[in-house]
Amino acid sequence: MNPIEFYQIKSQENYETARTRAIDNPELFWSEIASTFSWFKKWDQILSFDWSIPKTEWFINGKLNITVNCLDRHVDKNPDKLAILWEPNDPNDKSVKYTYSELLSLVCKFANGLKNQGIKKGDRVCIYMPMVPELTIAVLACARIGAVHSVVFGGFSAAALSTRINDAKCNLLITADGAFRGDKTVPLKKIVDEALDECKSIKKCIVLQRTFQKIKWNERIDIWWHDFIEGLSDYCEPEVMDSEDPLFILYTSGSTGKPKGMVHTCAGYMVYTAYTFLNVFQYKQGDIYWCTADIGWITGHSYMIYGPMAVGATSVHFEGIPSYPNWNRFWKVCEKYKVNQFYTAPTAIRTLAKQPLKLIDGHDLSSLKVLGSVGEPINLEAWNWYNQNIGKNKTPIVDTWWQTETGGIMISSLAGVTDQKPTFATKPIPGIRPVLLNNEGQEIIEKEAEGILAIKFPWPGIARTIYGDHTRYKEVYFNAYEGYYFPGDGSLRDLDGNFRITGRVDDVVIVSGHNLGTAPIENSINEHKDVAESAVIGYPHEVKGNALMAYVILKSKIETSKLTVELRDLVSNQIGPIAKPEKIIVVSGLPKTRSGKIMRRILRKLAAGDFEKLGDISTLLNPEVVDEIKNKLAK
Ligand code: WTA
Repeated sequence: MNPIEFYQIKSQENYETARTRAIDNPELFWSEIASTFSWFKKWDQILSFDWSIPKTEWFINGKLNITVNCLDRHVDKNPDKLAILWEPNDPNDKSVKYTYSELLSLVCKFANGLKNQGIKKGDRVCIYMPMVPELTIAVLACARIGAVHSVVFGGFSAAALSTRINDAKCNLLITADGAFRGDKTVPLKKIVDEALDECKSIKKCIVLQRTFQKIKWNERIDIWWHDFIEGLSDYCEPEVMDSEDPLFILYTSGSTGKPKGMVHTCAGYMVYTAYTFLNVFQYKQGDIYWCTADIGWITGHSYMIYGPMAVGATSVHFEGIPSYPNWNRFWKVCEKYKVNQFYTAPTAIRTLAKQPLKLIDGHDLSSLKVLGSVGEPINLEAWNWYNQNIGKNKTPIVDTWWQTETGGIMISSLAGVTDQKPTFATKPIPGIRPVLLNNEGQEIIEKEAEGILAIKFPWPGIARTIYGDHTRYKEVYFNAYEGYYFPGDGSLRDLDGNFRITGRVDDVVIVSGHNLGTAPIENSINEHKDVAESAVIGYPHEVKGNALMAYVILKSKIETSKLTVELRDLVSNQIGPIAKPEKIIVVSGLPKTRSGKIMRRILRKLAAGDFEKLGDISTLLNPEVVDEIKNKLAK
C-alpha cells in the first residue's frame, strides 16, 4: 500500500476503531501516522504537554523538512505528477500546469535567492501577493530554508500590513506590482510602499511582475522577482528543522487588541494537515481537488499548500473571483479541470445561490465526488441548495469546523464514509476530543445539550503560541476553562453526538467567513473627529452570515450620510474593506451597566430585530436609550 494511504479511514467501522485507538493510546496513534513521512531523524518522544503553562510538543527532537515531504518525496517517485493547475483571473489568459518536479526546481531557485539575501533559518519573511503560483513558491521556499513565512491576505490595507510586518519584525517582503481581481486591478505595490513607510525591519522587497502596471521603484530595497532568481541553481539543500521549530506565523483577529500572530510548527502541523486532508476529502491518488480559498487565510495554508502537497495531490489554484467574467466561473472551472473535490465557504454558496440556475445547467459537474464547506456555519437553505444543484443530491458534503489556531479540520464528517447531517459539522476527527462545557466550566455529560465548545486533549496541529506574546496565548485559549483549549465557539450536540457550531461566544464576528474583532473596528471609528464613542456588533445577514452594525455617539454635529461614508473609509483604510460596517446608527447613548460596561448582548438583540427578548433592562444605567435605539432601528 502507498504509505501515504496507510492512515486513510475507509469505513464507518474503521472510523470507530480509529477514534477509540486515538483515545486509548494517542501517542501510538499519532506516531504510526507520523512514521509514514520522511524524516532526517525520528523523534525521541512523541508528546509532551502541560496546558497550565501552556506547552504542547509533538515528535520531540525529530528532524525533518516539510518541503521534502511536500515535494522531493513525490518527485523521487513520479516527477511528472501534477501539483498545481493554475487558473488565471481572466479565462482568456493562459492557464499553467506545474508538475511536482517543476515546482521543486522553482522553489529551490527562489530559496537560493533568499539565501543570497542573507535570509536564514528563523528569520521572518512577509508575503503579500495575489493568488499566483509564485505565492506558493515563495511560501515553500521559506520553508525550504527554515525562514518563517507570514502571509498577509492581499485584501488587507497598508496599515494592517505594516502592523503585521512590525509585530513579526520581518526582514524581507515578497509582493507583486498589482493583483487582478475580476475586472479591477489592486495596486499591491502602492499599498506596500505606504506600509513600508512604517516598517523599519524590511531590508529587501521582492516584486513579481504580474499586472505590468506602473509602480514607484525604491532602488534601495526593491528587486524584481525575475532578477532575484536570475542564474540561480534549481537545487537547494533542505534546511534541517526540528519538529518544534516554527514553520509560519498567520495572523487572526482577536476580540481585543492587535491581531494575534498564531505560530505553527513543522512536524505536528504537517502530520495533522496531511491526515485530515486525506480523511475528510477522501482524496485518492489522481483526483483533482479544488479549494477556492485564498492562501492568505489558514484554509489556503492547510488545504491548498501543505495538506494536499504532503500527500501528493493535484490541486486547482484559482486567481480570480466567482463572478468574473460571469457568475458561472466556478462551474466552468470545475468542468474544465474535472474537479473531484470542491471546497468553498458558505458565503460563496449563498451568493451563488442568488444567481439564476441556468448558470449551472450546461456545465458538466459529474466529476464532483465531494463538496466541502468551511469558515462559518452553513444554514439549511444554503446546504440544500449546494446539495441539490451542485451535488445533484448524491455528493457527500463535508461541513468542516476548525480555526487558524487548530491548524487543521477538527470536526467534520469524512466524505462518503461517516454520516453527514445538514447544518452539523457532525463528529470529531479521530484524535480530537471535543466536549461541551457549562458556564461553570464543567463538562456537560448529557448527549443532547448546548454549551461552550472546548477540546480536552492536544492534537499535533495546535498553534503553539502567539508570536511574541505567550501570556496572551495562555489568557485567550487556556485560562478560560482550566485544562481545556477554548476555541471561542458555542455548540449544540444531538443525541448521536453530532456537533453543530452555533457561533462565537466572544467579541469576534465572522463576516463572510472572515474573523473580525469588534474592538479594533471601534478603535478606528473612535478616531473620527466627530465621534465620542462607539460599539460594533454583529447581526445575522442573509448572504454574509453576519454583518457589522456600528452604534455611534457623536461629540460634534455631522450629517449622517457624510459620517457613514467617512467612517466606512476610515475602517477600510485602517483594517481593510472586509471590516466596513454594513449599518451605522447615531445614538445619544449606549446601554451600560452601572459599572459602565456596554451591554453588547442588548445591542446584538436589537440589531437582530429581537426587540421582545431583551431580558431585564432595569439594571441598566440608562434604560431610556433602549427605546431610542428601537425607534431608530424600526425606521
Ligand atoms: C468559524 C477558518 C461553523 C468558527 C478555518 C471558528 C465555523 C472560526 C466553521 C475560525 C464551520 C469555521 N461551522 N463555524 N464549519 N468553520 N467556523 O480562524 O467561529 O478563519 O472559530 O479559520 O470560524 O475562523 P478562521
